[in-house]
Amino acid sequence: MSYNISITKVKESKVKDLDFNNIPLGTTFTDHMFICDFANGEWVNPRIVPMGMIPTHPAAMALHYGQAIFEGMKAYKDAKGEPMLFRPEQNAKRLNKSADRMGMPHFPEDVFVEGVKQLVDLEHNWIPPKDGSALYLRPFMYADEPFIGMRAATRFKFIIMASPAGPLFSKPIKLWAEKQYIRAANGGTGEAKAAGNYAAAIRPTELAKAKGYDQVLWLDAAKHKYIQEVGTMNIFFKINGEFITPKLDGSVLHGITRKSVIHLLKDKGFKVTERLITLQEIKEASKNGTLEEAFGTGTAVGIAYIQEIGMEGETIHVSDESPVGEDINNTLNAIKTGKQDDKFGWMIKTRKELA
Ligand code: COI
Repeated sequence: MSYNISITKVKESKVKDLDFNNIPLGTTFTDHMFICDFANGEWVNPRIVPMGMIPTHPAAMALHYGQAIFEGMKAYKDAKGEPMLFRPEQNAKRLNKSADRMGMPHFPEDVFVEGVKQLVDLEHNWIPPKDGSALYLRPFMYADEPFIGMRAATRFKFIIMASPAGPLFSKPIKLWAEKQYIRAANGGTGEAKAAGNYAAAIRPTELAKAKGYDQVLWLDAAKHKYIQEVGTMNIFFKINGEFITPKLDGSVLHGITRKSVIHLLKDKGFKVTERLITLQEIKEASKNGTLEEAFGTGTAVGIAYIQEIGMEGETIHVSDESPVGEDINNTLNAIKTGKQDDKFGWMIKTRKELA
């Protein structure tokens, strides 16, 4: 595929209407989007165009059979105001891993990264300057072939949208350990970032919210015993000085923030173990005083401190504070905004002359 990305710009940017102090996630979109089409076995016509509606046939296969996957990533500005991306190549790889599971074509990783770079470069005025805010990027792919019948589609669209976002959770959160509904079973689509995984989580999340909880804590499908992940995050517990996070067993999302946090924790001298972990173990650690803290990690939320886990007839008090979580959050934010040396080489500048 040719990597020549054509650019059609809007006449006038809407950024002047944005209140940078009030930007709830996913409510405002920037002026442009990146689009690329898959037809006849190849990706063609990569382009950046004004943000707008996309004509969709009512028989578009994504609407019926759910061939739809997505990514979440963020752009920041460094101290000099230069736009930067956090580990974009990781998102490109994960999209293709999701594509494999869902019978969809790979999107070339270099075009993914180049598309994100060029879009962010064009939209750099939309990157919120405040700490904890960022330009959220949503690359996604879906089947737009009009067809009724059960087979892999032959036509797809890959799109990247950008949406400025403020911080998601400003206080510690409460999780509901879900024992009726499940998110992912062995052999299912749990580790793919597939739209359907999120669709199936909407009703249980609404029920948890109605009980006063922020997100669902998902347990394994067979026994409702092992902890998998949280609504939009992976999860970490600190027990007796050691960090434990559920292992990637096929039903857990391969979080890029998760991977980076494991790296940072180890770099700071903590022992981190990826293994099966039961809700019972967390209960006991809370009772005997060895449960020191817990937090969730995700692109949209960053790091969210966990105060409490509720379930039918019982509440596990986790911790009112998360000192290590806070330290990791500060470190990660400092790296992302160029305030701290990027010693792991995670940040990518979007401007050609700086890359
Ligand atoms: C992200 O953290 O980027 C996600 O994709 C979660 C989303 C449902 C807000």
